[in-house]
Amino acid sequence: MSDTTSLYQPGILEGVPRVARYVQFTLAGEQQPAQALKEALTRASPLVNGRDVVIGISPALVHALGGQVPGLHDMPDFSGKLKVPATPGQLWCWVRGDDLGDLLHVTRQLQKALAPAFTLRHVVDAFRHRHDDATGFGRDLTGFEDGTENPRGDEALAAAFAQGQGDGLDGASFVAVQQWVHDLDAFDRMPEQDQNHCIGRRLSDNEEIEDAPEFAHVKRTAQESFEPEAFVLRRSMPWLASTQAGLMFVAFGRSFDAFEAQMRRMAGQDDGIVDGVFKLSRPVTGAYFWCPPMRAGQLDLRRLGFD
Ligand code: HEM
Repeated sequence: MSDTTSLYQPGILEGVPRVARYVQFTLAGEQQPAQALKEALTRASPLVNGRDVVIGISPALVHALGGQVPGLHDMPDFSGKLKVPATPGQLWCWVRGDDLGDLLHVTRQLQKALAPAFTLRHVVDAFRHRHDDATGFGRDLTGFEDGTENPRGDEALAAAFAQGQGDGLDGASFVAVQQWVHDLDAFDRMPEQDQNHCIGRRLSDNEEIEDAPEFAHVKRTAQESFEPEAFVLRRSMPWLASTQAGLMFVAFGRSFDAFEAQMRRMAGQDDGIVDGVFKLSRPVTGAYFWCPPMRAGQLDLRRLGFD
């Protein structure tokens, strides 16, 4: 593949941080002049190094700025038998680090830089759960290891970043973000075998269960089973707020195609079989963003009309 190194926001490729905040900004008023949006993004840019803060821009915001990004569109409605809400946003920031207090201050700096054109709409605090430094994997709050089948090395680069599309596009990533709320009481009530069958792996040792039912999550989403193969780079994290908790599902792709193929099958749109994950969780938000590439250590916003 062509060299996308140094073109992508590095936080995407790095593992999941110890703590993070998913921060969504919205437009302060219906009609914001493109110039005001541009000025706000220019002020925020120095805070976004792509590592400590990864940024994603919505289709609507790209449009409002007068930009064009081929393949960028809103999340479709995947609802069928179940609700899979599409809740479009404007600006998405994945604020990453080791200390939640520090992340609060980064959030405040972003808020100030983006005002008055943007206002903060929603923050979700996330963390690693039972992370194993040796394997680099953490767990979902159900206890299942998350990330096992993520592509690695060059395969991760090929899955997550656009290439061969030209300046200002190569190194960009298309991210799908969905907040899932777990029903941990329902999960706790299930016999262990049913818990294992929801995912298709054994909680005890993470082994894949060959004869798992067709609804098993890893059977539904097996990346090689799609035509064409549907690989994404998942960077999901557990979240909690007061008594609610779940998984912030985050998948980076060179386009939205792989995520869409997986989500359609999970929702039962291919064969009527709904993914076992819905027995223990439900999505309450869903949005797509374009994560612009980097150039000389700064966000490359040329496709949005910036110099
Ligand atoms: C509450 C929501 C979810 C939970 C708790 C969850 C959990 C898991 C777990 C435990 C695994 C097995 C280990 C691994 O390979 O990471 C897995 C695999 C996977 N999940 Fe999810 N997941 C959720 C939602 C989703 C969604 C919405 C998608 C995409 C639309 C997705 C795509 C995948 C993929 C592609 C794999 C790897 C499949 C393979 O190639 O073996 N997951 N997930």
